[in-house]
Amino acid sequence: MEQIQIRQPEEYVKGIPLIKFFAEAIGPLESFQPLPDDLLISTYPKSGTTWVSQILDMIYQGGDLEKCHRAPIFIRVPFLEFKAPGIPSGLETLKETPAPRLIKTHLPLTLLPQSLLDKKIKVIYVARNAKDVAVSYYHFYCMAKVHPDPGTWDSFLEKFMAGKVCYGSWYQHVQEWWKLSHTHPVLYLFYEDIKENPKREVQKILEFVGRSLPEEIVDRIVQHTSFEEMKKNPMTNYTTIPHDIMDHDISPFMRKGKVGDWKTTFTVAQNECFDADYAKKMAGWDLG
Ligand code: A3P
Repeated sequence: MEQIQIRQPEEYVKGIPLIKFFAEAIGPLESFQPLPDDLLISTYPKSGTTWVSQILDMIYQGGDLEKCHRAPIFIRVPFLEFKAPGIPSGLETLKETPAPRLIKTHLPLTLLPQSLLDKKIKVIYVARNAKDVAVSYYHFYCMAKVHPDPGTWDSFLEKFMAGKVCYGSWYQHVQEWWKLSHTHPVLYLFYEDIKENPKREVQKILEFVGRSLPEEIVDRIVQHTSFEEMKKNPMTNYTTIPHDIMDHDISPFMRKGKVGDWKTTFTVAQNECFDADYAKKMAGWDLG
């Protein structure tokens, strides 16, 4: 297999920093044509993408865990902008995926293929508390070596607040997808709500995708998509990725799965600075 170079600087596409390989995928994506029953799972990174992807695949497979063991999550739910040397790209994986397809993306709207919007493809968006995202993203940068070296936590947090991390500004991402949800079929979910009451949120998803399942199957989906189950499941925990690309000894992909874990990382000064900046950037935005 061709060597994937690690720790390369991000490249900017239309003002958005991206992993070098993903930046190269944006051009070919412009001609992407979705199928009418495609479902897009959109998130800013580290917001619960894998969790909601597993919930949706379990729904699509009628709660049959064996069927959900057919391949790792990144094959079952192809990653639209994924591109790396020697590995099928997101677009190539999608071509091999039977309809109805689930598709994952982290792209902000400026980089999203227009056809997904024109064809009113259904979207499930997941947002998560920005501070928990920043902490999770820092650990992810450390372990997923296709990212540049994150530096210290303090310097990473500064970059996160300035939108100078892969996929750009968290603030802009959650806002623009929220705005889109007023004109496009978007189910806008929150990581914290799924933690609080996963069954309620699975029911919301079922309604949005126009399916129904018996209550015992819904319960089974909730049980098998818990953090503990997904952490030990090789089809969801990313341990099938080569160790030199994702080093789980540095930080496991399924790290803590908690709400409010930022409190163990932010200093008082970082928290005050973040809150002041957050208040400015999120003024007038009442999500949810
Ligand atoms: P932490 O690093 O805070 O633990 P994504 O899939 O968007 O990359 O998000 C990864 C984050 O979601 C990680 O957060 C991961 O642990 C958490 N996560 C994944 N599956 C989860 C689950 N079933 N329940 C709760 N959190 C989950």
